Amino acid sequence: MTLNYLTGFGNEFATEALPGALPAGQNSPQQVAYGLYAEQISGTAFTAPRSHNRRTWTYRIRPAAVHGEFVQISNGMIVSDFTQVAATPNPLRWNPLPIPLAPTDFISGWVTMAGTGSADAQSGCAIHLYAANADMIERFFYSADSELLIVPQQGSLLLKTELGEMLIAPQEIAVLPRGIRFQVRLPDGVARGYICENFGGALRLPDLGVIGSNGLANPRDFQIPVAKYEEREGEFELIAKFSGHLWQASIGHSPLDVVAWHGNFVPCKYDLRHFNTIGSISYDHPDPSIFLVLQSQSDTPGVDSIDFVIFPPRWLAAENTFRPPWFHRNIAAEFMGLIHGAYDAKAEGFLPGGSSLHNCMTGHGPDEATFSKASAIDTSIPHKVADTMAFMFETRTLLRPTRFALESSLRQADYAQCWQGLKKQFTQEP
Ligand SMILES: [Fe+2]
Repeated sequence: MTLNYLTGFGNEFATEALPGALPAGQNSPQQVAYGLYAEQISGTAFTAPRSHNRRTWTYRIRPAAVHGEFVQISNGMIVSDFTQVAATPNPLRWNPLPIPLAPTDFISGWVTMAGTGSADAQSGCAIHLYAANADMIERFFYSADSELLIVPQQGSLLLKTELGEMLIAPQEIAVLPRGIRFQVRLPDGVARGYICENFGGALRLPDLGVIGSNGLANPRDFQIPVAKYEEREGEFELIAKFSGHLWQASIGHSPLDVVAWHGNFVPCKYDLRHFNTIGSISYDHPDPSIFLVLQSQSDTPGVDSIDFVIFPPRWLAAENTFRPPWFHRNIAAEFMGLIHGAYDAKAEGFLPGGSSLHNCMTGHGPDEATFSKASAIDTSIPHKVADTMAFMFETRTLLRPTRFALESSLRQADYAQCWQGLKKQFTQEP
C-alpha cells in the first residue's frame, strides 16, 4: 500500500486531489472549481495567537451539515464521568486487553481506563485502550470532545480521514484533530493499542530551550496526509462523540469527500523510532521530561495538561549512577503503556499491551530485581537498552481510574508486591 504524505508539523499545508481544485489567492470564491463547497474547520479560537492558531479550509463535494438528525446511542465501555468511583493512591497495573471474539470495530472497541477533567470544559483527558477485529465500512466517526492521540501496540490502522489517509503501525503514532471525520480499517485483521483523548489545547512540539534547534522529535519527521476523496453514496452512519456521549446520525454519502484543502489543522503521524533521544554523558540522568514528544499546554506557563513521553532504545553511559529510572514520587499522574519489548525499570509483569498508573505522590520505581542488578552493575561500561518502546501519558491533575480499571480481572492485584522485597540496607557505616 502506497500512501502519500506531506512532511513537517505546525506549518501551513496545501494539497489537492484534482488539479486546480484549490482556489488561487482567496479562501472562499463565489464559485469553487469542480462545483465544490468551501468549508472552514477552526480548531482554535479565531483570535488565538498566530503561533497557536489552527484552521483548515476544505473544498468538498457536500458541506458537513448534510446528514440526518443525531440520536444518542450506547457509550459501550466509554466512560466520561470520572467521579463514579473513588480514586485510589495504590499503584495500579494491568494485563493487556484481549482481542474481542465478537465483531468489534475501532470505535466499538474503546475501553476507558482513567480520566481527568471534562470534555465540556475543554480541559483534561480520557485514556482508553482499544481492541478491534472488524473494519469500519458503513460507519464514520468524529469527536467534538477531543483531539485523539492514537498509539498502536498490535496491528496496523488505516486511518481514512477527511483530509487524507494515514497508515500507522506499532511504534508509530497518529494525532487526529478535534472534529475531523474518519474511518478505521484494520489491514492486519486485528488491532490493539492506547488512545489519549485530549480535551484541552492541541498537542504540539515542545520548545527546546538550551537543547538548541534540533533534537527530540524533529518537525520534518511528522507526516501529513495528502487530499484524497471518496465519491460514495449509500446508507451510512455518522457517529459523533459529543459531551461525553455517542450520537448517531444517518448520512447518505461518505463524509470523506474533501477534494482539496489547505491549512494547519491537520492529522499527522510520527514514527517514534525517529526520536532523537538525549541523556546524560557524565553522571545522574535528567528528569523524564527529556523524553517529551508532544505536549498539551495549560494556561500556566511550563505546566502541561498532557505530556506524551517515550522511553525508546538508548545508550546508558552515566558513570557511578543508578541507571534505571530512580525511585520517585511526582505531583503529576503517570499512565504508562508498553508498545514493544521490555521496560528497563521492571524485571517482569509489565507486558506489551499492558498498562500502569502511578498517581499524584504514589511512590514507585524499579522493582526489587531491577534495583539489585542496577546497584551492582559496572558503570564504566556503557549499556544499550535495546528492543524497547514504552510511553507515558503524564497529566498535571489526578487521573481517576474507572470502575472497569479497578474491578476488571486485567488488574494485577499483587502489583505492589514488586517493591516489598526491598530490604533494609542501613548499616550506620558509610
Ligand atoms: Fe514514574
